[in-house]
Amino acid sequence: MTAAVQIIDPLLSEDEADAILDEWRAFPSYGLYSNESTRDAYAPELAQRYDAAVNFVRTGGRFGRKDSDRGLQAARTNYFRETYAYGDDIVSPRMAELLFRNDRLVEAAQKLHGREVIEPAILYANVLLPGQELATHTDVGEFRGANRKVMPQWLIVVMHHSGLFDRWRMPIATGIAYFGGGKGGELAYYPDGASGDPATYSPKHNTAALLDTDDVFHGVDRVLGDEANLALVRPGMRLHYDGDGRWSVRDGDTEVSTYDEDAVRLSISWKGYCFADEAERDAWRQNTDDLSLDTVLDTLEADLRERGALTGERPSPPEFGKLLIDTYTKFPAPVPQPAS
Ligand SMILES: [Fe+2]
Repeated sequence: MTAAVQIIDPLLSEDEADAILDEWRAFPSYGLYSNESTRDAYAPELAQRYDAAVNFVRTGGRFGRKDSDRGLQAARTNYFRETYAYGDDIVSPRMAELLFRNDRLVEAAQKLHGREVIEPAILYANVLLPGQELATHTDVGEFRGANRKVMPQWLIVVMHHSGLFDRWRMPIATGIAYFGGGKGGELAYYPDGASGDPATYSPKHNTAALLDTDDVFHGVDRVLGDEANLALVRPGMRLHYDGDGRWSVRDGDTEVSTYDEDAVRLSISWKGYCFADEAERDAWRQNTDDLSLDTVLDTLEADLRERGALTGERPSPPEFGKLLIDTYTKFPAPVPQPAS
């Protein structure tokens, strides 16, 4: 059996890794992940990652730390993200050339699910500032007919954890590639499931960790450094490279805060679909055997009734959504914070 996480070290040649950093800096700017949104076909009242956000606020993250300043708490998980490649849509040709069809990532992905045909799906950068972290979560996977374009993200996560839709599941491998500096920001993951102990990987320049992030709970521990200006980061702001190893957060043209590149944590995530063979890949491309939203909701409702978790009428969409998340998406418990 393949380990829950494979470490690839090194990922690229030294020159190629330097080229990645150059491309990172040359990219026009990075927006906040919270800017991304889609209109939902179901329960638009619930935020896309209502599951992870509520768990973070409830528990204070992996170490049970809570900020009294709500602006600061929001800024902690509001990191910067930009996409370099998405299917055939290549935004950064150099990034795509070095990472999208990278042999080492593809080979590790083949091993992860024991599936030969790997179809690179997306390549994107996450940039975290000192004081930022990523709440424990599982990623939004995909099922034939059910992806984030047509269904809310929390529902797709519920679908995976329910185990009721495995026949339609698209196994995906995620490689998280690290370049440059930054202190802290360890990848924390739960190789033995939500009730097991967590493990961590300390990022190192030009390495990657590859795992099934749809199945394995994971997060990013806090990036260390001066977080004095973090609370100033608000939706709509962007991160720019200023030259000479300096980055700045800007609100339009106004500079809000600046950072040494060594204090910023860059990771580039790669996701690949893992198909058993070409026939399976073609079925996915041709959309045969797709799930519909009604089938998904009816299947989950029937299972809730069987478990005795629902009697009477199906509640309103947001209430039904909360019941589904509470029933199926079981987060790891936080570990107590060591006394400081
Ligand atoms: Fe993730």
